[in-house]
Amino acid sequence: MTTEILCLVLAAGKGTRMRSASPKVMHPVAGQPMVAHVLAAADALAPVRRGVVIGPDMEVVTQAVAPWPTVVQQHQAGTADALKTARGIWAGFDGIVLAVYGDTPLITTATLKALAAAVDQPDRPALAVLGFRPDDTTGYGRLVLTQDGHLTAIVEHADADADMRRIGLCNAGMMAFDGRRLGELLDAIGNDNAKGEYYLTDAVAIARAKGYGAVVAEGPVEEAMGINTRAELAKAEAVMQGRLRDRAMNGGATLIDPATVYFSADTVVGRDVTIGPNVVFGPRVVVEDEVEILSFCHFTDAVIRKGAIVGPFARLRPGADIGPGAHIGNFVEVKNTTIGKGSKANHLTYLGDARIGAGTNVGAGTITCNYDGYLKHLTQIGDEVFIGSNTSLVAPVTVGDRSNIAAGSVITRDVAEDALAIERADQTQRPGWAKDYRARKAAEKAARAKTKP
Ligand code: UD1
Ligand code: MG
Repeated sequence: MTTEILCLVLAAGKGTRMRSASPKVMHPVAGQPMVAHVLAAADALAPVRRGVVIGPDMEVVTQAVAPWPTVVQQHQAGTADALKTARGIWAGFDGIVLAVYGDTPLITTATLKALAAAVDQPDRPALAVLGFRPDDTTGYGRLVLTQDGHLTAIVEHADADADMRRIGLCNAGMMAFDGRRLGELLDAIGNDNAKGEYYLTDAVAIARAKGYGAVVAEGPVEEAMGINTRAELAKAEAVMQGRLRDRAMNGGATLIDPATVYFSADTVVGRDVTIGPNVVFGPRVVVEDEVEILSFCHFTDAVIRKGAIVGPFARLRPGADIGPGAHIGNFVEVKNTTIGKGSKANHLTYLGDARIGAGTNVGAGTITCNYDGYLKHLTQIGDEVFIGSNTSLVAPVTVGDRSNIAAGSVITRDVAEDALAIERADQTQRPGWAKDYRARKAAEKAARAKTKP
């Protein structure tokens, strides 16, 4: 497409039916606010100007949509009024203006492109409307077409007669305009209706009355889905997860039971990765090639490098960086910790605020004591270190290359390279004690049984 595109996202609605303190468009789908999905779909069309219309007291949305600028619509007087509020963005623009909704996270770039392309024709209609065919048309505006496919009007469900209601093609709400016509169409829209709002849909009849063209671009049903309730949010999440699972598999990952793996929109999964059942990817996770993830893992803001094996039951928290070929096993939690090439922490361990070298073995039950109740401290462990089971590393502490730490030690001072650190009481032994003890206890038990009534 050669014609320039301007994109406006309408998001001023409070979303009362979500019953939430947050604006509706901030509710996440696949780990990102739903409006972020809309912006991503639009950004792929490289719009030369853009803007988001928000309501008052929505600074949180302004932050979330940056660098898209926001315009505040003080009173929600309808979708046409929302576009007028953004006049500073579209004034003087003669390309194609896309008006999309912030609460339709499933919209794709391909569909927005088709909508813009419907206006970007030699005969240049004044507008195009995104149409769709829902199973249940109740509540949607119906698209009334001429024989040759031109749109003559949008009739809201409430205003439609029985014949009209049989029309299956409905208004998804999103529209594309010839920028040169947008101002005059908006200025002609009145608010003489039951709600007293300025409806963008009225632009269709106005365009026709002025002798301009109006057309429909039909899109997939699921993409038109607007989120108004928590139940609809859950449906959108399910559709989005399906897409993300397909994306991972098409990219060369094996998902043993795809329906139980949950991705974030920004999850990066390499080739020849295997992901077991029941794995959850929070935001900002990168999985490099040939990684194996066993079942029941939870990751957020983490990198798993080539050929590493993680899980089952592993938790990677923000700042976890698992080196190439490293092993992170069951009930191991890693936070703000770098694990070097081929190092292993296979059982029941907490590694927080640590830097661990290559070829190091972290024994079962090792804990980095990184928090003193006020501040976090760093644990530095070198290459080829052997840390015995049930070691506590009280940070800040440094453990030198190739050193050994004896099992059960509480390490409070730095350990030198190639040294053994052992911190526990000497073991004593009493020969034959256990045998004597058994005999004594058996006699006590027999005596007590005799005295019982
Ligand atoms: C609209 C269409 C209807 C269509 C349906 C599809 C009209 C008159 N009707 O109805 O034909 O079938 O969508 O879902 O347009 N917004 C603002 N400022 C406002 C009003 C709305 O920014 O003053 C935003 C909302 O936040 C929302 C979007 O515009 O993102 C759509 O508004 P909404 O009130 O939901 O329109 P519908 O009644 O659903
Ligand atoms: Mg709506």
